[in-house]
Amino acid sequence: MNSKIAKLDKRVALALLGGGENRIKKQHAKKKLTARERIEYLLDEGSFEEMGVLVTHRATDFGMENQLFFGDGVVTGYGTINGRLIYIFAQDFTVFGGALSETHAEKICKIMDQAVKVGAPVIGLNDSGGARIQEGVKSLGGYADIFHRNVQASGVIPQLSAIMGPCAGGAVYSPAMTDFTLMVEDTSYMFVTGPNVVKTVTNEEVTAEELGGANAHSTKSGVTHITSANDIQCLEDLKKLLSYIPQNNRETTKKIPYELGEELRPQLINLIPEDTHKPYDMHTIIEGIIDEESFFEIHKNYAENIIVGFGRLAGRSIGIIANQPMQLAGCLDSNSSIKAARFTRFCDCFNIPLLVLVDVPGFLPGTDQEWNGIIKNGAKLLYALSEATVPKITVITRKAYGGAYDVMNSKHIGADMNFAWPTAEIAVMGPKGAVEIIFKKEIAEAKNPEEKLKEKEADYASKFADPYRAARRGFIDEVIYPKNTRRKLIKAFQMLEGKEINRPKRKHGNIPL
Ligand code: COA
Repeated sequence: MNSKIAKLDKRVALALLGGGENRIKKQHAKKKLTARERIEYLLDEGSFEEMGVLVTHRATDFGMENQLFFGDGVVTGYGTINGRLIYIFAQDFTVFGGALSETHAEKICKIMDQAVKVGAPVIGLNDSGGARIQEGVKSLGGYADIFHRNVQASGVIPQLSAIMGPCAGGAVYSPAMTDFTLMVEDTSYMFVTGPNVVKTVTNEEVTAEELGGANAHSTKSGVTHITSANDIQCLEDLKKLLSYIPQNNRETTKKIPYELGEELRPQLINLIPEDTHKPYDMHTIIEGIIDEESFFEIHKNYAENIIVGFGRLAGRSIGIIANQPMQLAGCLDSNSSIKAARFTRFCDCFNIPLLVLVDVPGFLPGTDQEWNGIIKNGAKLLYALSEATVPKITVITRKAYGGAYDVMNSKHIGADMNFAWPTAEIAVMGPKGAVEIIFKKEIAEAKNPEEKLKEKEADYASKFADPYRAARRGFIDEVIYPKNTRRKLIKAFQMLEGKEINRPKRKHGNIPL
């Protein structure tokens, strides 16, 4: 018996060493933790149970039969984070550079299948040189097996991806199909084709970091939702993100116990500038409404004219979408519409109620926007908010002009409660633009056109630039005092807890892509 136990001990000890001491040292020298260290840090102490620790690849070409490492470059299993069950895979760069073989893929698929059956999130820690070159098409098949599962699991269980090293070629498409992608600054990159291919095909000189580092993907492409300074921060961000989302699409996020008080927020009273052209930071309003320090922003540095993120209201997790007057005056453009639409759909999949804060002067004009499809991209947000069946509440803080009024969770597209502050201006367009069109002739023929314009503008503003016409028609349920906003929202979200909508059966809608 003892010799049999010793045999197992030996194998497990070898597996725990991954690619060996030297390669672990190299990993540390790059300021990266190993796959096992990452799992150990992320999961509750002692909770990790490994699956497939003794798996090895089956390749025999290029002398591979003599290069066997237990685990085959990926550590997989389950455990808990703050007591919640999760499934995890972490690619081990010390074994064949974390490259994905047929068996490596099978291990990932196994935990994904299990996670769907049980209804628990999957977290993938990616650190890989891509397809295992020695295996050819078997490795490509492995990727596709994972992609297919990513799609089947989409909207059923949350899928979170952290990129903590290389992730190139076809490998990028698994994280891209998961719900959130996090990247570590300086040590991770993602691209479909690397700098050498780029140079050959387009003659562009670009480094891996410039092409696909965390900075590029958090500011230019929007591929990554969150960037983290280092491995530890990334694992902390994963934990935090998970705290806002439920286990699966049948559950809601657990509420943090909260004792209700008066919930007045006097600091919200004077936040909107007298001059309606002046910007203000919408973050201040978000923070004035939600529970202290509970805002967790997604896509912070991308399409900053709209803010999206999670927060808590009286302990309940909510998704927040808010125009940001500090950037492009809060106009909707293609990128911000796509950003907010994707976030809306995530929240809707996983029963997270939505709060929409509106200060939008319209869609961003220009050839760039029109030729890049602002029509179909704006439609994505309109579609996503119309389609969402979770409780949806709107607060208009200032401008709600034109088609953007409709899009930003108006009553007409299914919002449950629509509030406006007394500073709200709900109209087809801003006063200046409006009178320039309807009084064009009169202004042009006036002795002093400038003065006439001002006079007409003031007249229009006094008639239309307020929330009362909309309130009279019931498009706004209530014009509220800013300081009462938090209390109103807590009560309204509570009231909507039992909301249920049953739509006619269909395969799926056809969101404009
Ligand atoms: N298949 C098999 N083995 C791979 C691999 C792959 N795709 N990518 C890396 N490796 C192995 C290397 O042979 C090396 O093995 P060793 O430890 O036995 O020497 C180990 O992983 C580490 O790779 P190395 O190149 O030394 O690390 P690096 O940090 O300098 O570079 C990469 C990392 C990912 C940039 C580089 O390995 C690379 O370009 N890999 C190929 C990427 C690719 O074209 N993939 C296939 C298409 S998706």
